[in-house]
Amino acid sequence: MSYVLVIYESRTGNVKEMADAVSEGVREEGLEVKIFPANKVEIDDMVNASGIIAGTFTSYGIVAGEMKTLFDVSVKRHGRLQGKVGGAFASAGGVGGGVETTVLSIIQMMLVHGMVIEGNSHSPHFGAVAIGKPDEKSLKSCRDLGKRVAVLVKKLGL
Ligand SMILES: Cc1cc2nc3c(=O)[nH]c(=O)nc-3n(C[C@H](O)[C@H](O)[C@H](O)COP(=O)(O)O)c2cc1C
Repeated sequence: MSYVLVIYESRTGNVKEMADAVSEGVREEGLEVKIFPANKVEIDDMVNASGIIAGTFTSYGIVAGEMKTLFDVSVKRHGRLQGKVGGAFASAGGVGGGVETTVLSIIQMMLVHGMVIEGNSHSPHFGAVAIGKPDEKSLKSCRDLGKRVAVLVKKLGL
């Protein structure tokens, strides 16, 4: 059964809230979701997913440590994520704190895995973002991200 894996790294709950909203969006498109914190993901959860949406808090302007470790460990299955759909989201402490560079750092790792990333002609362009706790607008962009990944998974017949 096709599913989308939602992975998050959150210390104080902001990114977890975003991950829940992303998951809602995927489910609204009729796909199953598996949602785990980064340190609980088995590499085969990634290999067996049709899409992977990953989000972290901004840490020094890039992806946080456990998510980076997960991608480092995923080298064991390098090549097996080729063609899967990806998406990213992040929360930062402040405006200009690096939330978009964090989203892009996740997308970079996904591209190295050969994943397919859909941009967005409407902002936010790179993925869903929040400053601190996500407000309603951020949560909507998280749901939209989940929906867009699910729609692309279905279009590609994954
Ligand atoms: C180790 C660490 C590094 C951080 N680095 C940044 C940073 O570079 N820029 C920023 O805006 N916020 C930074 N923050 C703040 C978090 O990204 C921000 O509070 C976020 O909303 C926390 O999300 P969470 O509630 O899911 O843990 C950092 C926090 C931690 C713990």
